[in-house]
Amino acid sequence: MNTDKKYKVLFVCLGNICRSPAAQGIFEHVVRENGMLDRIEADSAGTYSGHRGELPDRRMRTAALYRGYGLTHRARPVSGLDFLDFDLVIAMDDQNYEDLMHLAPSVEDSRKIRRMADFLTIHKMSYIPDPYYMGAEGFGLVLDLLEEACRNLFNEIKTAEL
Ligand code: 4NP
Repeated sequence: MNTDKKYKVLFVCLGNICRSPAAQGIFEHVVRENGMLDRIEADSAGTYSGHRGELPDRRMRTAALYRGYGLTHRARPVSGLDFLDFDLVIAMDDQNYEDLMHLAPSVEDSRKIRRMADFLTIHKMSYIPDPYYMGAEGFGLVLDLLEEACRNLFNEIKTAEL
């Protein structure tokens, strides 16, 4: 990991009101817990711009707060320019991944795109499911997946395996 410059991670889902702001909040919590806020930074964005400016979905904020994560991000659409700013762009599902692949300005930039599920080791899921149309258990499952993936992602960044 480059020690002069902050390592920047962007989490991306569809609406930027459920999965990616939760991933951002959990990841920031892990970074803070490890005293590395001066070295690693996170943000989140959506491939769909319809929720621009909104706080995360109330159900996600409630479920996250119950686990100690206060989510205050305001939704924003992802842009091709984000590839200039971020070291890693993490897709929650295959559609997000495809959309990001199309958005990446260059082949080199597209190498920054990873799937969040690639950081799962215990849960056997190939994507982070969209909880928007699910009940409370959907939000709980998403938080379980994101907590596991965020810890593994942090460890990979710390040991410069990415
Ligand atoms: P997210 O969930 O992609 O995890 O933020 C969704 C939020 C909103 C919509 C779909 C998914 N929507 O269709 O408005």
